[in-house]
Amino acid sequence: MAGNIFGTAFRITTYGESHGHSIGVIIDGCPAGLNLSSADIQVDLDRRRPGQSAIVTQRKEGDKVQILSGVFDGKTTGTPIALQILNTNAKSKDYSHIKDKYRPSHADYTYDQKYGIRDYRGGGRSSARETAARVAAGAIAKKILEKEGIVLYAHVSAVGAVKLLKSDVKNRSIIELNEIRCANAERAEEMIALIREIRKQGDTIGGTIECVLEQVPAGLGQPVFDRLEADLAKAMLSINACKGFELGSGFEGTLMRGSAHNDAFYRDASGQIQTDTNYSGGIQGGISNGMPVEFRVAFKPVATLMQDQQSVDSKGEQVTVTGKGRHDPCVLPRAVPIVEAMAACVFADHILRSRLDRA
Ligand SMILES: Cc1cc2nc3c(=O)[nH]c(=O)nc-3n(C[C@H](O)[C@H](O)[C@H](O)COP(=O)(O)O)c2cc1C
Repeated sequence: MAGNIFGTAFRITTYGESHGHSIGVIIDGCPAGLNLSSADIQVDLDRRRPGQSAIVTQRKEGDKVQILSGVFDGKTTGTPIALQILNTNAKSKDYSHIKDKYRPSHADYTYDQKYGIRDYRGGGRSSARETAARVAAGAIAKKILEKEGIVLYAHVSAVGAVKLLKSDVKNRSIIELNEIRCANAERAEEMIALIREIRKQGDTIGGTIECVLEQVPAGLGQPVFDRLEADLAKAMLSINACKGFELGSGFEGTLMRGSAHNDAFYRDASGQIQTDTNYSGGIQGGISNGMPVEFRVAFKPVATLMQDQQSVDSKGEQVTVTGKGRHDPCVLPRAVPIVEAMAACVFADHILRSRLDRA
């Protein structure tokens, strides 16, 4: 199975399956001299962890990270960093009922068709458990961004039809204070109430995450195939259940005239070049322009329902798939640190690559 490597200069390779021995990541290209402890990584893993609140899956994985290599005396050494997370709470018998059945809109059918063998336990490699390895790598990438003074955050901007209105005030400091991770307290409550209601019905729901990077220097991005937004889109669309990516004005921008959509340049009081609007989302020509990079990521409703669904088995016979096991009713709160991690990996990669761009 190929396709497990992401990035050029800051390169991550993830491994592992949901119910295997462990999952993990090898990070190649991380500069030497960064302060790094497992506690630095654990903070973000705890934000992604199952069982963290009443509105996520009640699986009880500890998700404790071990640093196996690449760090000496609390500093990165410039050699490959290997991180491992043991799978401690795998209940494979929770999945025996779907051993030969295909869950609608999950990866069961496609993996079976492609490989002719399927690790059905917890979804195997198709499980979002793999994203714990990305979050661990992202915690290290974030350190490279911090050194450049870049500020990165993400939050849930919509759950189903409950979305942040343009007039809603966003308060970054409350994101980690509510279960859904939304920057507006009132909308957060509505989103949580909606997820609780949906869960009671044995159903699931999707939504949107907004991600912002501030104090990004102008000049990051590699035209033409490695445009900054192309790499961001690939990073986001590689996350399980992600179905859409929008930069700046996104699809709504198609409704505007160029005269309203163009971001006019001006020089601010400190002599910095800025734009008075940011419909470009901080990227023009595939290169950051110094304005905040702003994008949104759409996640579908979770495929596994606590309801019976019609499907087929591996022999093509019509079967009923029964809702069973410990699943997320909505991926959004747990996906926030994943979106941040993948964004951090893209920016760390482009920061390191940009060092070679000018003589
Ligand atoms: C944080 C997170 C948690 C998820 N939890 C579940 C889950 O509990 N049950 C499930 O069926 N899918 C879950 N998913 C989605 C599946 O991993 C995903 O739908 C599946 O791999 C098929 O891929 P696709 O939806 O991108 O086509 C989760 C995704 C994320 C990002």
